[in-house]
Amino acid sequence: MGYDGEGGNVIVDPKNVIELTDAALAADYTRVRRAANLIAREFTKAGKEAVARELRSLVRKRGVPLRASGYLEALPVDSKSRLPLVEEQPWPEAPVFLGKEANRIFHDFLMDAQHVGELSAKGLASRLCLLLSGPPGTGKTLLAAHVAAQLSRPFYVVRLDSVISSLLGDTAKNIRSVFDFVPSQKAVLLLDEMDALAKLRDDRHELGELKRVVNTVIQGLDSLDSHTVVIAATNHPHLLDSAVWRRFPYKINLGYPDMGVRKDLWTHFLFEDQDESQLSELLASFSKGLSGADIEAIGLAARRHALLNSQSVDLAAVALAVLHSEQGKSALPQRGGLDAEQKRRLAQELKVRNGLTGAAISRLLGVTRQAVYSYLKRDAENQHG
Ligand SMILES: Nc1ncnc2c1ncn2[C@@H]1O[C@H](COP(=O)(O)OP(=O)(O)OP(=O)(O)O)[C@@H](O)[C@H]1O
Ligand SMILES: [Mg+2]
Repeated sequence: MGYDGEGGNVIVDPKNVIELTDAALAADYTRVRRAANLIAREFTKAGKEAVARELRSLVRKRGVPLRASGYLEALPVDSKSRLPLVEEQPWPEAPVFLGKEANRIFHDFLMDAQHVGELSAKGLASRLCLLLSGPPGTGKTLLAAHVAAQLSRPFYVVRLDSVISSLLGDTAKNIRSVFDFVPSQKAVLLLDEMDALAKLRDDRHELGELKRVVNTVIQGLDSLDSHTVVIAATNHPHLLDSAVWRRFPYKINLGYPDMGVRKDLWTHFLFEDQDESQLSELLASFSKGLSGADIEAIGLAARRHALLNSQSVDLAAVALAVLHSEQGKSALPQRGGLDAEQKRRLAQELKVRNGLTGAAISRLLGVTRQAVYSYLKRDAENQHG
């Protein structure tokens, strides 16, 4: 494949080209996507990121022409409504940032999955089931997609809340057909929103139904061969039935990001991976309790404002948004700069509640240290006066 441009030589494995061609002619989207993703990786390796990005964005398109011509992938569907029960999602382009412990288990899991053949031969393989727990927006779905990407397998997502919804027919039957479908695909299956199972416990449903559905999930998990990877995600692990819980030997608790992860998130989402180590660390120091999704929302909004106003990022507005955010509800940075009174109150709050130094505050607010001292002094005077 001759592709001009910067970077080194592109070496595309002929196997991937043949697979791509064959899959395209067989109208098999799953295989087309997988082969194209592998080729995109080869371009990335050769330093031709633009081509890789273009390939990956093509892969994310839905295959409309084929669908229009009556072709559908053989995904399991609900027999009553014909709605698909499983959705194939692309591998992620964005990185995932993990704390030390989460990262360790993530890599252990990948290692075991990559060597499952050897391990089973010695009777050492463990079920490749991984349970991800953590509050909303902490990267559970993203991490599951990374597992699929790392293992070069298609990524299938079942949203249990929609499978359990009354819009569809028999829940237990649908869950069974998902588990029947997965092993034949050599895929990663994500059972997303596992909490939905526990919600069956409310009084609209009889207890019998809950038991039946939970048992179907357990039977499904037990029926998998040692190569199949199943990941479950939940916000409320304690609500999970203990029999389900026990079937996941690998568990990662994502939780709210720690200091180090918050720093990585700010660097990535606000500073576009530029080395702004001190500022990222500063923001991380008082954004405890924000999720990755919150930091993403604040960071991207600030960058949008900066771009449209042809200015640099307004760090004071970012800091104010952080202080105004509550868990799970991020406030967005305001447009058009803070006025003097807002800056004064922000300086005060950063100092008193968050223990920031005058130098740090002056950096964030974009004012001189002198100005910061006068803000803080005025506040002290007001309090005593
Ligand atoms: N640890 C993280 N590293 C990188 N990005 C993150 C992280 N956590 C959250 N994000 C950002 O937030 C977005 C939302 O995360 P994701 O959907 O994976 O959360 P979730 O835990 O599955 O939430 P929910 O419980 O609501 O389904 C991600 O796509 C990513 O952009
Ligand atoms: Mg999710």
